[in-house]
Amino acid sequence: GYGREGRARMGRLICISNRIPSGPNPSGGLVVALHDTIKETGGIWIGTSGEIVDTPDNTLHEITDGPFRRMAFDLTEAEQENYYFGFSNQVLWPLFHGRTDLLEIHAEYLDSYKEVNRRFAKMLIEVIEPEDRIWVHDYHLIPLALYLRQLGAKNRMGFFLHTPFPNPITLHALPNAEDVCEWLANYEVVGMQSERDARAAIACLTEIAGAQELAGGFVQLGERQCRVAAFPIAIDAQEFRHLAEEQIDRLPAGVIKPDRQLIIGVDRLDYTKGVPQRFKAFGEFLSRHEEWHRHVSLIQISPPTREGVEAYDNIREETEHLSGQVNGQFADIQWAPIRFINRPVPRETLAGLYRAAQIALVTPLMDGMNLVAKEFVAAQNPEDPGVLILSQFAGAAEQMDDALIVNPHDIEQMATAIMTALAMPLQDRRRRHEALMDVLLTKDVSWWSKGFLTALG
Ligand code: ADP
Ligand code: G6P
Repeated sequence: GYGREGRARMGRLICISNRIPSGPNPSGGLVVALHDTIKETGGIWIGTSGEIVDTPDNTLHEITDGPFRRMAFDLTEAEQENYYFGFSNQVLWPLFHGRTDLLEIHAEYLDSYKEVNRRFAKMLIEVIEPEDRIWVHDYHLIPLALYLRQLGAKNRMGFFLHTPFPNPITLHALPNAEDVCEWLANYEVVGMQSERDARAAIACLTEIAGAQELAGGFVQLGERQCRVAAFPIAIDAQEFRHLAEEQIDRLPAGVIKPDRQLIIGVDRLDYTKGVPQRFKAFGEFLSRHEEWHRHVSLIQISPPTREGVEAYDNIREETEHLSGQVNGQFADIQWAPIRFINRPVPRETLAGLYRAAQIALVTPLMDGMNLVAKEFVAAQNPEDPGVLILSQFAGAAEQMDDALIVNPHDIEQMATAIMTALAMPLQDRRRRHEALMDVLLTKDVSWWSKGFLTALG
């Protein structure tokens, strides 16, 4: 082997991501999907521990609790600031979601990002074996393959991006746009959530880095050849359906009311999710339809995320303000139109809530996939299913065109879609649900991981 751990003969699957699961209520698509994958395929999951230390770690440590093997390292406070909050979440995250207005470009952020990735590569080279397959996840760790290769690793390495990928004009907002392309080219397979993102990545590689596009999604950059393709991430739909069936009867009293329809929204409180537009659309709907007052409410469940970053503090204020405004305008003593809940909810409760709801509003301004859309559909009662209202900018829209597709910037259109959904005849709801469920059952999370790993070889 490259390192001290010389015993493993068969190639293992090594999944690597910044965030690894800890605590009972994971929120965030990456951890939820990888959890299902590793449960099924086995393998080791390696990432940051969530602990902040004074002196940086030089070796990975085992995390012993939990259902599968995990290893982790700690960050220092400065790394947390510059690598995680800085380059990952105030440069790459907004950039990849088309929000160049939110970019905070500082040399310190980039230096720390590279440094953490280099240090991580050094620790990894000690535990990986030549036969292992390395699967790196998400924007925090794009340069990892390059640094591992510089240390001599010859393993097959794949990268999967859970977010969207920007077009060349947007990527050019980054002073080191060309580096990002070179980092990507060090993987054998670069997986994107949608065709949209795969096309954008190929355009960046060719237009910014001067790579040559070959047949079949292959791209040649200098010595390196990599394949860029879409692998839409998914959920274990079967399992989630069962969970919802079982949980609907365990919802706390008062959640379901006989004369009241329920609309649900579930998103980390992120500015990419379009929650303000959603609240405005619901307000617009209520001002158009007095006959629906007291007969419909919106529950929006939004756990805080990346707190301390200004753009996240702002979105929290804006959404609190807007929900207050809609409630102020329409509420009466028996009814508040919006319930805005700022905490994570156990997965079981979410499943029950989805099934209890007649409508889900999944209206991100930009999203890699959006698993909430899939969870909502999987949770429905096929005899009397609810309606999914889905943004055209969620990666999920490529696969789920039987939802009511909306433009999240068009508040009036979304208000109309709410009315359409509330009035939709049972037959139409069933037809749409059946078509959507078909996709979810055939293209589930194990289809996703098998597809990617087969491409990786
Ligand atoms: P993202 O990865 O950007 O957070 P996704 O919709 O792809 O968006 O994935 C979000 C995941 O986190 C889903 O599995 C969802 O159920 C979960 N989640 C979101 N909000 C909550 C919450 N309040 N409580 C528990 N889980 C949540
Ligand atoms: C998205 C990202 C993940 C991230 C998750 C939660 O799903 O693609 O990489 O783990 O959000 O965000 P956090 O910053 O808490 O890890």
